[in-house]
Amino acid sequence: MGPGSARWISVTSVLTIWNIPSAAAPAIEAVPPTVLEGKNVLLLAHNLPDNLSAYHWFKGKEPLDKDLIIMHEIKSQETKQGKLHSGRETLYPNGSLMLQNVTLKQSGIYNLNIHLKRGDSFPCIHTLETQLSKPSIRSNGTTAVEGQDTVEITCDPPFLKTTYTWRLNGKELPGDTNVSLSQGNTTLTLLKVSRHLKGRYECKVQNPLGVFRSNPFTLDVFYGPDNPQIFPPDKYFEEGKNLWLSCQATSHPKAQYSWNVNGEHWSSRQDIFIHKVNMSNSGLYTCHVNNPTTGRNDFKVKEITIVGKWLLVTSEPDSGVQSNFL
Ligand SMILES: *[C@@H]1O[C@H](CO)[C@@H](O)[C@H](O)[C@H]1NC(C)=O
Ligand SMILES: *[C@@H]1O[C@H](CO)[C@@H](O)[C@H](O)[C@H]1NC(C)=O
Ligand SMILES: *[C@@H]1O[C@H](CO)[C@@H](O)[C@H](O)[C@H]1NC(C)=O
Ligand SMILES: *[C@@H]1O[C@H](CO)[C@@H](O)[C@H](O)[C@H]1NC(C)=O
Ligand SMILES: *[C@@H]1O[C@H](CO)[C@@H](O)[C@H](O)[C@H]1NC(C)=O
Ligand SMILES: *[C@@H]1O[C@H](CO)[C@@H](O)[C@H](O)[C@H]1NC(C)=O
Ligand SMILES: *[C@@H]1O[C@H](CO)[C@@H](O)[C@H](O)[C@H]1NC(C)=O
Repeated sequence: MGPGSARWISVTSVLTIWNIPSAAAPAIEAVPPTVLEGKNVLLLAHNLPDNLSAYHWFKGKEPLDKDLIIMHEIKSQETKQGKLHSGRETLYPNGSLMLQNVTLKQSGIYNLNIHLKRGDSFPCIHTLETQLSKPSIRSNGTTAVEGQDTVEITCDPPFLKTTYTWRLNGKELPGDTNVSLSQGNTTLTLLKVSRHLKGRYECKVQNPLGVFRSNPFTLDVFYGPDNPQIFPPDKYFEEGKNLWLSCQATSHPKAQYSWNVNGEHWSSRQDIFIHKVNMSNSGLYTCHVNNPTTGRNDFKVKEITIVGKWLLVTSEPDSGVQSNFL
């Protein structure tokens, strides 16, 4: 096919509009077909006839003056805004209408009324669907210190006739007295947050347009150190054997450890190891734990007695053993 025949085809398609409207009738296409709230959509006017005098865009099926968004008269090149023009609609010379930053209220029927030079006009109808966009989570902190900081997490945007539900690490929120919902459940307040509220938050938004889930928001809660424990629990150790003690405290981030023995700094490790203990190793062993992030610290004291081999009857922890020596 040469360029000549191509032109001929386009001419016939315009002509057929009037006889067989189905062929290449004027039509409106929304790009994208469904628009998310806050985004833009272009209502493309396809196959408009050549002999136009004006076009009018209405919201609603009927070309009522009160429902006019915008109109354009071709001869005078005059564009007039209607009662429903919000300032976010742009009409292009080719008849297409751009809606910017759409709201849910802008869902519905759009009517492009085409006026021909010869006087008559006909409508071109399209139903636009706008949808609630994916909600997003906002918080006044991504990290918090347990028992100290209050965190406010909000699901945006707030809508009417919409249900907001929250999940933490894929489960329902704990029914904690310090966890409260407000503002139609769009806002979650974690009063003096606790460690079990650490994790991944998601909000689900549900309304007649559908169900939408936010991207997760991760809250890190710093806690501890909790009161440390010293292992093994034994009090008596045999002379000449190795002594190994380990200190453990729950903490996030990991605690820093240090040991004092009889008031003297001994080690900055979590564990103590003494090769072949003798009587001089008896005394008070104190494990200090510190979490620089929470600014908290704690300690545990353990009394250790090194005994001669002949005295040590059993290596059971404190209680039972003690009576053997008293
Ligand atoms: C009309 O004009 C707009 C803006 O220039 C353009 O994006 C659109 O594709 C045009 N419509 C048609 C049907 O060509
Ligand atoms: C367009 O107008 C011209 C003259 O003004 C006329 O000859 C032609 O038939 C018209 N075309 C249509 C599709 O109405
Ligand atoms: C979109 O509209 C909303 C409410 O109508 C407004 O708060 C927001 O600032 C607008 N955004 C842009 C990018 O224009
Ligand atoms: C977050 O908001 C809550 C409630 O308004 C407030 O008590 C808290 O101090 C805020 N936290 C930060 C880190 O701003
Ligand atoms: C709730 O907050 C109070 C301080 O306001 C605190 O003493 C309590 O331990 C918290 N409860 C839980 C379960 O975190
Ligand atoms: C908020 O959530 C609670 C339960 O999580 C529910 O009982 C209540 O009806 C919700 N309120 C609103 C306004 O959706
Ligand atoms: C006990 O062991 C320490 C070294 O750990 C050593 O300096 C000391 O002399 C020993 N004491 C006795 C009584 O063996």
